[in-house]
Amino acid sequence: MITLNIEKAFGSISEEAVNAYEAQAKAAREALENGTGKGNDFLGWLHLPSSIRATFLADIKATAHILRENCEVVVVAGIGGSYLGARAVIEALSNSFTWLQEDKKDPVVVYAGHNIGEDYLYELTGFLKNKKFGVINISKSGTTTETALAFRLLKKQCEDQRGKEMARKVIVAITDAKKGAARITADKEGYRSFVIPDNVGGRFSVLTPVGLLPVAIAGFDIEKLVAGATDMEKACGVNIPFAQNPAAIYAATRNELYKSGKKIEILVNYNPKLHYVSEWWKQLYGESEGKENKGIFPAAVDFSTDLHSMGQWIQEGERSIFETVISVEKTNHTLSVPSDEANLDGLNFLAGKRVDEVNKMAELGTQIAHIDGGVPNIRIVIPELNEYYIGQLLYFFEIGCGISGYILGVNPFDQPGVEAYKKNMFALLNKPGYEEESKAIQSRL
Ligand code: PA5
Repeated sequence: MITLNIEKAFGSISEEAVNAYEAQAKAAREALENGTGKGNDFLGWLHLPSSIRATFLADIKATAHILRENCEVVVVAGIGGSYLGARAVIEALSNSFTWLQEDKKDPVVVYAGHNIGEDYLYELTGFLKNKKFGVINISKSGTTTETALAFRLLKKQCEDQRGKEMARKVIVAITDAKKGAARITADKEGYRSFVIPDNVGGRFSVLTPVGLLPVAIAGFDIEKLVAGATDMEKACGVNIPFAQNPAAIYAATRNELYKSGKKIEILVNYNPKLHYVSEWWKQLYGESEGKENKGIFPAAVDFSTDLHSMGQWIQEGERSIFETVISVEKTNHTLSVPSDEANLDGLNFLAGKRVDEVNKMAELGTQIAHIDGGVPNIRIVIPELNEYYIGQLLYFFEIGCGISGYILGVNPFDQPGVEAYKKNMFALLNKPGYEEESKAIQSRL
């Protein structure tokens, strides 16, 4: 199992102070279970892992098979919760370089609909030219501008390049059961489609088809992913005592650190494959807790890379931070440092050592330095990077977020603040229905 260690947070906060959250954490966990807390119409993720049926996974795998058979490239079009989970899992498990090789056995997964960069989209359409590509159009609301815009371009290109009949085969929609433009298009065009349950918000949707279909297309084992999440669901169950519930302890510790003035949590990894797990985590915690003028600011760094950019700030900058380190115990491959007779680089003291041993010493050395520098550390240890443990990690963070948000006193399942920019953008673009807002915003320019 994944394990949590909070010992290195003590010093800045006390063990007693964390334990004092027991009643609050229990109440928060029970509110999730009983659906009595804020945002209780969005709790579909809570027992999602254990309620996923084999037949449902088989359906996803059947669609994945069709795209795998017919596509060299699959574009995942989505933004926020509609793409970060899939990307987090795929990048954590993928070989960093096979996408550059000619003889790939799995389709390359690329992303769109998560920005409005004209150059990005131009280059993407250029990359897809003459390639056998498919598209997964993922949008719960079915109306998100970034995704809809990219999908409009991709749909046309796919139809022009591959013909209408093949496009119908390799375009899949993941959206609401009834409403939204993505649903209307899917039904009208006859695309294969999957439903995002009403009661699962975007950032909690990685274990719905939103995450599962792209992960299966990329060639990874979704049964194992779900099995890992299911085991973590059990480990964080409502009847598990506080001291044994890792998600409750994580939630309590970060709330106590926040109360003590540590307003920024930096998620740290020592494995570049985890970069998008951090991106997914940032959205999960940022969008869930950043409201009512409160909430920890979730930041992330990739070490040791960012020790050479952010390391100085973390060591000696304002003391308002704590770190949560994801440490992967065992690598998937082994590589030792070779000996060199001339030893011009002076590295023979490392000869024969595994690269991971060097990485682990960087990790330990950094932990000690940062603790000395007044940065409390929480540590999450993953035995190795595979589907099963990634599934555990995702669910651990989801339930940790639910408990933590309730302890903080906010509704962790809404995101009212996200609408502000959209309203202004639509007003500036003269979207029909925004006439009043258009006038108002023009007068401010
Ligand atoms: O977590 C969320 O709810 C958001 O990040 C959404 O996932 C994101 O805004 C995309 O929305 P939609 O899936 O409706 O296109």
